[in-house]
Amino acid sequence: MATKNSINVGIIGFGTVGTGTARILLENADIIKRRLGVPVILKKISDLDVKRDRGIKLGDVKITTDAKDIITDPEIDIVIELIGGYKPAKEFILEAIKNKKHVVTANKALLAVHGEEIYAAAEKAGVTVGYEASVAGGIPILKSLREGLAANRIESIYGIVNGTCNYILTLMTNEGRKFDEVLKEAQAKGYAEADPTFDIEGIDSAHKLAVLTMLAFGTPVRFEDIYTEGISKITPIDIEFAKDLGYKIKLLAITKMVNNEIEARVHPTMIPGDFPVATVDGVFNALFVKGNAVGNTLFYGRGAGDMPTGSAVVADVMDIGRDIISGSGNRMPVAAFRERSQLKIRKMDDITSCYYLRFSAIDKPGVLSKISGVLGKHNISIESMIQKGRKEEQAVPLVMMTHEALERNVRVALDEINKMDCVGGPTMVIRMEQ
Ligand code: HSE
Repeated sequence: MATKNSINVGIIGFGTVGTGTARILLENADIIKRRLGVPVILKKISDLDVKRDRGIKLGDVKITTDAKDIITDPEIDIVIELIGGYKPAKEFILEAIKNKKHVVTANKALLAVHGEEIYAAAEKAGVTVGYEASVAGGIPILKSLREGLAANRIESIYGIVNGTCNYILTLMTNEGRKFDEVLKEAQAKGYAEADPTFDIEGIDSAHKLAVLTMLAFGTPVRFEDIYTEGISKITPIDIEFAKDLGYKIKLLAITKMVNNEIEARVHPTMIPGDFPVATVDGVFNALFVKGNAVGNTLFYGRGAGDMPTGSAVVADVMDIGRDIISGSGNRMPVAAFRERSQLKIRKMDDITSCYYLRFSAIDKPGVLSKISGVLGKHNISIESMIQKGRKEEQAVPLVMMTHEALERNVRVALDEINKMDCVGGPTMVIRMEQ
C-alpha cells in the first residue's frame, strides 16, 4: 500500500462554492482527518479576484491568480474546479487530468455536454473525476445511484433539481402571484441569477438530468436529446386549476426506462398532491428514485449554496483520498459503469402521457364539440373537463384532462385547434404524471 501522509488539494474558483469548500476543508479539518486517517490539506486557491474578503481565515493557503499554478503543482493530488461554464473550465480539467491529477468539479453544464470526453481522458490517465456537487448540491444522489443502489435496475427518477424554479412555483402556488413578479423578487433576494435563463427555461435541470441518466442506466445521453421546457409560461390560472384537481405543478427532470428505451425530459409537470415530491417547497431539491429491487426511495435536501454544495465537493475529495491512500486507483469507473449500453433515447413525439389542456375557448354553443371532435379524431380521449365562469362570445378557460395519449397526436391536434376561430389563443399544455 502506498504511504501517504496527507491528501493535497487546490481549488480553482473562489466564488460561492469555492468559499464553502474552503471553509469546510479548514473548519471541519479534524473530522475529515479522523474519517480519512490523514489530513486533507488545502494548499492553493486560484481566482481572478484575490483581494475580496470571503470571511474565512486562510492561514497557510496560498492565493494565486494563475490556475496553472495549481494544475502543475507536483504536490497537489486533487484539483477542484469550481469556476463553472465551458471555457476555460474544460481546458483546466483536461490539463489537470493530463498531469495525472484527480479532479473534483461541480460543473454540470460542462459534464452534460463534454462529459464523455472528460470521463474517457480520466480513465485513460488512470485518475478519477468526482462530480457529486454537479447535481442537487448537498444531496448525495450520485453516490447513491453509483453505490447504494448499484444492485438495481433503475426504473425511473423524478427530480426537482432546480431550486430557483421550485422557489418561484412555490410562491406562485402559495400566494397566487404571477411568474414575472415572483422572478423579480427571487432575483432581488439572490435566489435567482441576474440572467435566470438557464434556471427558468429548464436548461440547468436538463444538464443535471444528463448526468443522472448516465449514472442510472449507463447510457450516455446527449444534452440536446433531452426535451427541455421551462416554467415561464405557467400562469396562476393553471396553478388554481391544478389545486382544484388535487395536483401541484413542479418542474420535474424525469428519466425512465420504457420498453428498453430511455425517456429523458424536463418540463412543468402536474403531479398528485400526495406524490412524494409534491410537498417539496421553496429552494429545496428532491429526487424520487425507483429501483427494481429496492422499490421507491426519496432523497431530499438543499440543491445549492456554498456549504451544501461544498459538502458534496469535500465528500468527493475524501472518496478519492481513500482510493489514493489504499492505492486502489480507479476502483470506481468514472461514469459508474465499466460496460456502457447504447440504449435509444426516445423522441419526445413518441412518449405517452396524460395531459392537462387549457383552451381559451370562445363561450358560444358548439365550441366544446368542435374541440373534443378534433381530439377524438387524433385518438385523444378526454378523462374530465372543467369550465369556470361564463362570458358569452368571449374567451374563457376550458380545461380538459386526457387519458394517456401519444405526444405526437397531441401536438397535431393542438395545431389544428389553435387555428380554429372559436379558440382565442394558444392552448396551455402541461404533462401529468400519476
Ligand atoms: N441554479 C441552481 C438552482 C443551483 O437554482 O437550483 C445550481 O445548480
